This record gives sequence, C-alpha cells and structure tokens, in this order.
Amino acid sequence: MLVLGIETSCDETGIALYDGDRGLLAHALHTQVALHAEYGGVVPELASRDHVQKTLPLVHHVLGEAGVAKTDIDGVAYTAGPGLLGALLVGSAIGRSLAWAWNVPAVGVHHMEGHLLAPMLEDNPPAFPFIALLVSGGHTQLVQVDGIGQYRMLGESLDDAAGEAFDKTAKLLDLGYPGGPALAKLATEGDPTRFNFPRPMVDRPGLDFSFSGLKTFALNTFHEHPEARADIARAFEDAVVDTLAIKCRRALRETGLTRLIIAGGVSANTRLRTQLESMVAKEGAGVFYARPEFCTDNGAMIAYAGHQRLAHGEQESVAIKARARWPMETLTAV
Ligand code: KG4
Ligand code: ZN
Repeated sequence: MLVLGIETSCDETGIALYDGDRGLLAHALHTQVALHAEYGGVVPELASRDHVQKTLPLVHHVLGEAGVAKTDIDGVAYTAGPGLLGALLVGSAIGRSLAWAWNVPAVGVHHMEGHLLAPMLEDNPPAFPFIALLVSGGHTQLVQVDGIGQYRMLGESLDDAAGEAFDKTAKLLDLGYPGGPALAKLATEGDPTRFNFPRPMVDRPGLDFSFSGLKTFALNTFHEHPEARADIARAFEDAVVDTLAIKCRRALRETGLTRLIIAGGVSANTRLRTQLESMVAKEGAGVFYARPEFCTDNGAMIAYAGHQRLAHGEQESVAIKARARWPMETLTAV
C-alpha cells in the first residue's frame, strides 16, 4: 500500500511517500524558521499561510522524486493533531480533499504517534513492547508502548517541555530561535565543571518531569556571570540530559522492559543519545532512535504511522477534522 503523508502541525511542511513493501520512497521538508525568526517564535497565522503555499508544490515534488503518479497512491495520511489548529487545518483540508478526489481512504494521524514510530523507519527497528521517551517542543512524555495505539502514560512534564526549556534558555542566552540546536552547539565549548544545575524531581518517586525551574536557574546564573554563556549552556544541557536519563532508567526498572526508544526533536541531541547509550548498556537494555532529520518534524513519520493504520482498514469519514489537543492514550489499538 502506497501512502502519501502530510505534516503541517507547526512550523515545518513535511511530505513523504511510504510503501508497505518498498519502504520510504521519497520525502521533502520546507522549514519556516526564517519566516518566524524575526519574531523570536512561531507566529501561528504566518505558519498557516505558509503551509497553504507550500503543501501542494511539495506533494508534486515528492511524487516526481519517487517517480510515481497520483493514481498510484492508495491512501493519504495527514497530521490531525495535536498542534496549532490553523496549521493542522491546512494539512487536514488538503490531505482529506486529495483522498476524496483520488477516491482513496484517508487517516488523521496523531503527531506524537508519528514521532514515536519514527525509529521504525531505521534498520533494526525495535520490537514491541518498549518504553518511549517523547521529547519535543511541546511534549515530554514517558510512555509504555505495547503496540501501535497501545499507550500507557507513565509520566510527563508538569510545566515546560524539554524542547521548550532548551528554546527558552537559548533565547535568554541570546541564541535566537529555535534555540535547541544552537544551545547544544555552544554547550560543546562549555566547561562541565563550572556550574552545577539541579536535576529537578529526581529525588521524588514517580516519572514526571519539571523543567521550568532550570530556565530560571540559567537566567540567574547568566545575570551573575554574563561572560559564561557556553558554561551555562553546558550546565543546562547536562542537567536536562541527566534528568531524562534518570527517569528513563527508572521506567525500564519499574516495567522490566529492555528496550527504550527516544523520539521528537530533542532526541536529535547528541549528548542525550550518548548518555542513554551508556545508561542502557549498564541496564542490559537497548536504545533506538531515528536519524536526526526524522527526530524533528517530518512527513516520513506521518506517512509511516498513517500506513500502519490504513493498512489495517482504518479510515476517516469525509469530514475535515483537526484537534489542537488530543490525548495519546485515547488512540485505538491497531
Ligand atoms: O519534534 P519537534 O521538531 O517539534 C515539535 O513537535 O515540537 O521538536 C522541536 C524541538 C525544539 O524545541 C528544538 O529546539 C528541539 O526540538 N531540538 C533540540 C535539538 N534539535 C531540536 N534540542 C536540543 N538539542 C538538539 N540537537
Ligand atoms: Zn513534533
């Protein structure tokens, strides 16, 4: 089954073609970073308008790249939530309409399920069940995954998401938007012994997170030591990475599972990957993640997740639906 995937939930237009037999055939991404940079964050209305302009040309581009005709497509998958409602509506309207015009089924994909399944696009994909650490700009969640659509929430952030904390800390260090990758880059020049930031909530039982205090800690340190940006970046990154690793280890031990996947934009972070590699090695477990371009938002993960659901006969009515909020535990099992 050949599926067209459309991702427009935030500030990237991602389009891809995934085939059940041949795998990923083509994918393309248009990022809106330059459009939002001067505002220091995503402007929802500008995001929606840009998706309107970019989605169809990218669909044509991807079809050309894969060498397939629109009549070859067996189904359409689009991100239906969670995310910016206007941006989601663009992808949902275009995706649902294309499917209607082509007379093929369509499915609205949950953005975080897309992220969660992205490691399946790599060689040696993890078998179910596993623990998933979802770390994006909007979510930080630890989930027990027993199969597609079988999600048990083990813990989540009570305030800022990990990516959001990276972005806000980067902003106060004048690293621009989106700051996560820039902060990680600056941290490589930092002295890891200069400052010691707290590891929030690790001395309490449970698997929830809290990252908003770290940002304040970084701000206060920056006021006292305005010359120490790289050292602050390093101390901040170490604190986030350590905290995530401690909670992942706790989740593995509490569930007895031996596979951990990390997904979402922050899973592209090199220090997080390295630290989790060494943690799971000591635990006798394994860690899985997607290539960096499939950690951040992309169309391939939506085409893949949509394919799994469409191939099992799921499909939407002809109504165009999008949801800004959509709890992942309410998804149906495949
Ligand atoms: O998954 P994603 O592309 O979008 C959402 O669904 O939110 O995640 C974007 C987030 C941003 O906060 C960005 O700063 C962060 O992921 N990010 C990183 C890195 N690459 C992206 N954070 C830390 N280190 C990175 N290398
Ligand atoms: Zn995302």
